[in-house]
Amino acid sequence: MNICIIGTGYVGLCTGVGLASRGHKVFCVDIDSGKVDKINRGQAPIYEDGLEEMLQKVLEDDKIKATTDLKEAISETDICFISVPTPSMQDGSIELKYIKRVAEDVGSVLKNLDKYYVVVVKSTIVPGTTEDAVKPLIEQASGKSAGNGFGICMNPEFLREGYALKDFLNPDRIIIGQDDSKAGDVVNQVYSGFQAPIMRTNIKTAEMIKYTANSLLATKISFSNEIGNVCKKLGIDVYDVMKGVGMDNRISEKFLGAGCGFGGSCFPKDVAALAARAEKLGVNPMLLRQVLETNRNQKSVLVEQLKTSIDDLQGKKIAVLGLAFNPNTDDIRESPAIEIISRLKEIGANVIAYDPKASENMRAIFPDINYADNVKDALKEADACLIITAWDEFKNLSDDDFGLMRGNVIIEGRKVLKYENVKSFQGICW
Ligand code: UGA
Repeated sequence: MNICIIGTGYVGLCTGVGLASRGHKVFCVDIDSGKVDKINRGQAPIYEDGLEEMLQKVLEDDKIKATTDLKEAISETDICFISVPTPSMQDGSIELKYIKRVAEDVGSVLKNLDKYYVVVVKSTIVPGTTEDAVKPLIEQASGKSAGNGFGICMNPEFLREGYALKDFLNPDRIIIGQDDSKAGDVVNQVYSGFQAPIMRTNIKTAEMIKYTANSLLATKISFSNEIGNVCKKLGIDVYDVMKGVGMDNRISEKFLGAGCGFGGSCFPKDVAALAARAEKLGVNPMLLRQVLETNRNQKSVLVEQLKTSIDDLQGKKIAVLGLAFNPNTDDIRESPAIEIISRLKEIGANVIAYDPKASENMRAIFPDINYADNVKDALKEADACLIITAWDEFKNLSDDDFGLMRGNVIIEGRKVLKYENVKSFQGICW
């Protein structure tokens, strides 16, 4: 099929490249001509595991093209996926201006389009938004009504940053929220060949499935962190506990990883947005609010632990390993590293940070700390080391590496170090 993707963030670009690798012809639209040029040259504007390699492959096969020209992209295709950002506003609700503008732009192109066209929302939006905001704007701008001149659907994404391409190509399920079955059939066709169950439902339910999935995953993490904090006091390894708990089929071991809390642009934003929507509906979202609060507190546990190991942190050299919120990405949005570095700076510690991909992004927030080019340089003469992101390269660190430090305080926030390689370190929750 010929498919248009609007917005080339990590979701849009991974979706586009993933669909192109499955043989579809994809037009990626973005208003940023710099990004468009980069994509057409085979350079991914963001770091995402395996993305650039696959982008180059699909470019070679002439299966993908990036453009700023929405009209061209729509006239060449039968379906578009909208994947523009829906960032958080101060009260937790989401900013709809980007998606609304796209809806109007798409509608204006549909006005003079002489074929049936399906518009699919992929951006995460609170239940009701596709029907109450996106659909009317397209109808107004196109002069056509949904179900006749065009079809409208909602198809949420479940891609983890750092693993987005893999997740796209191997989904657990595909959710298609449809206004009518003719539109849903077209979306269904896009995914023919994917080995995953497809659930077709109404649009509002599809929107709610996305929020509920992220909120439940975030709840699992906050729950694990709370249990982890108790385990720490009792001298129990929470990972052993969760292994035993997760063997229960009803629970599963996944996303029970305690540590320094969740970050990223999704969990904090989506839980807050669902809570804000619940409040507007007169429902008190006590649990959702607590999930966020527990997560906020968790980010400072690591620094509190450091303070109990080193009395006076003023002027002490602290190596911070890992800045990205997840491994395999350069994204630092809401990364626990931000809060942890802020706290260390307040105390007067001398921070030296290292991340394989995210240092440049972090430099924009903290231009005044030191950044090392590799782990060894970060560890040299450090009084303490904090591990914040589960990058693979940290998994093989050994006593030889930590021997470069002046001190011996190693605090692990992600359970990546192996006891057979490193004799003595403290876990945040174990
Ligand atoms: C999340 C969801 O996992 C995706 O399914 C969803 O599509 C995406 O949000 C989205 O809404 O777009 P993402 O935030 O990119 O994906 O990354 P995750 O791998 O879910 O990690 C989020 C945070 O949780 C990270 O900071 C990670 O370190 C933390 N985490 C994860 C834990 O602290 N413990 C765990 O056991 C798992």
